[in-house]
Amino acid sequence: MRRFDAAPVRTPDPPRYDAGVKRRVFFQAALSAAPILYGQPARRYKTALIGSGWWGMNILREALASGQCSAVALVDPDSSQIAKAQAEITKLSSDQPRVYKDYREMLAKERPDIAIVATPDHWHALPTIDAVKAGAHVYVEKPISHTIDEGKAMVKAARAADRVVQVGLHRRLTPHGLSGMEFLKSGKVGKVGMVRIFANASGGAGTRVPDSDPPAGLDWDLWLGPAPKRAYNKAIHPRGFRQFLDYANGTLGDWGVHWMDQVLWWTEETHPKTVYSTAGRMVRQDSTDAPDTQMVTYEFETFRCLWEQRHYAGEGAEKHLIGAYFYGTEGVFHLGYRDGWTFYPVKKGQPAIHVEPQLNQPDGQNIRELWADFMTAIEKRRKPVADIEVGHRATAASLLGMVSWRAGRSVRWDGQKCVGDPEANRLLRRAYRAPWKYPEA
Ligand SMILES: NC(=O)c1ccc[n+]([C@@H]2O[C@H](COP(=O)([O-])OP(=O)(O)OC[C@H]3O[C@@H](n4cnc5c(N)ncnc54)[C@H](O)[C@@H]3O)[C@@H](O)[C@H]2O)c1
Repeated sequence: MRRFDAAPVRTPDPPRYDAGVKRRVFFQAALSAAPILYGQPARRYKTALIGSGWWGMNILREALASGQCSAVALVDPDSSQIAKAQAEITKLSSDQPRVYKDYREMLAKERPDIAIVATPDHWHALPTIDAVKAGAHVYVEKPISHTIDEGKAMVKAARAADRVVQVGLHRRLTPHGLSGMEFLKSGKVGKVGMVRIFANASGGAGTRVPDSDPPAGLDWDLWLGPAPKRAYNKAIHPRGFRQFLDYANGTLGDWGVHWMDQVLWWTEETHPKTVYSTAGRMVRQDSTDAPDTQMVTYEFETFRCLWEQRHYAGEGAEKHLIGAYFYGTEGVFHLGYRDGWTFYPVKKGQPAIHVEPQLNQPDGQNIRELWADFMTAIEKRRKPVADIEVGHRATAASLLGMVSWRAGRSVRWDGQKCVGDPEANRLLRRAYRAPWKYPEA
C-alpha cells in the first residue's frame, strides 16, 4: 500500500464562503484557523453550554483549551449532568459557571457571547434560534434539527441576527477528510457514478427497559420540551434518545448526517432530487422505536447515492463498517472514520493508497479544529466551514429518508419542499407540545 501526500495547501485567499466555491474554502479555513490555535487570544468570550452531557463537554473542553473562552453558564434540566460537568470544569480552569435548568433564563441573565447547543436533537432548534436572537454566536450539534422545517427557521434566524452559527460537522476539518476530498477532486477516482454511505454496527434484539420515575434532580417535563409527554425511561436519557423517534431520527439522523455531509461537500449539487427509503425493525425487540434496518436511495443529477444502516451482523465479512464508498471508473475510494481513507484502483497490479486519520481524544473527533474555525469566523466576520446552511442541507437530505419512509413512497425534492406532495410536506414538521411553539421560517 502506498502513502498519499496531499499537495501543499496554498496561501489562503481572503476568507469568504459561498456554496459555489466551498471546496477550496475549507482548505483555506483550516489554515486560517492556525494562528488562533497557537496564538494569544485578544479577549475571552463568555461561553454558555446548553446541554451539559457527553458531547457538550467534549466541545466545552476544546473551547476552554483554546484560551479564548470562559465558561459562564451550564444549562441542563438534569442536575446530575451539571454536577459532572462542573467537577470537570473546576479541574480544567478557574471558571465558576452559574447553573440553570432553563436556557431562556440563562440567555436573559448571562447574555453570553457564545452558546454551545448540545442537547438531544428535538431540543436544537429553539435554543439556537433564541440564542442568536439574544446576540450569541452558536455552535450547534448535528443534526441541526429534528424535523426539516425547524432547520429552515434556524437558517433564517441566524441570518436575521447576523450571528455565526457553526454546526458540529467536525469531519469538515478532519485532516484525512481534507486530503480525501482533495484526492477525490483531483480526478484520480475517475468519473464517480455511485456513492454508498453507511453505518453498520453489531447488536441484537436487546432487552426492554421498563418506564420508571425520573431520577431526582431531572426535570423530565423540561427535558421532553416540545416532544409529546411520556413517562421517563432510562433507555432514553442520557444518550439513548438517538433511537427514539420523538427526540431523534435513529441512525440516519445521527451518523447519516455526517456522511451525507461528506457527499454534499464533494458534489457541486446542493440537494438530492428524489429520495426513497425502506426501513423497519427486523431484529430489535428493545424499548427503542427507530428502525434497526434502513436503506435510502438518493437520486442526484450526476450520480446515485445509497444510505445503508443495520444494527446487527456488524462484524466479519465487510472491511469497512462506517463511512462512504465513492465508486469511480478508476477505482473505489473509501472515506472512513477511525480507518482514514483508502483508494482501491481498478487497474491490476496498482497498489492501494491509504491515509491514516489524525483524531483528537477522547472519542476520536476534530472538534479542536472546528472550534478554531468558529473563533476565526467570529473574529473575521466570515462564515464558518460548517455554516448553519451547510448543516441544514446535510440534515434535510438525511431526514428526507425519514419523510419517504413515513410517506411510504418516494419524494421529489426541490431544496425547499416535496414537489406536488402535500402529505409529504406535512411530514417536514410536527406539532409541538404547548407551551412550546414550532419555529417558523
Ligand atoms: N458531532 C458529533 O460527532 C457528535 C457526537 C456525539 C453527539 N453529537 C450530538 O450531540 C448532541 C448531544 O448528544 P449526547 O450524546 O451528548 O447526549 P447526552 O444525553 O449525553 O447529553 C445531552 C444533554 O442535554 C440535556 N438537555 C435535554 N434537554 C435540555 C434543554 N432543554 N436544555 C439544556 N439541556 C438539555 C440532557 O439532560 C443531557 O444532559 C446530540 O444532538 C448528538 O447528535 C454529535
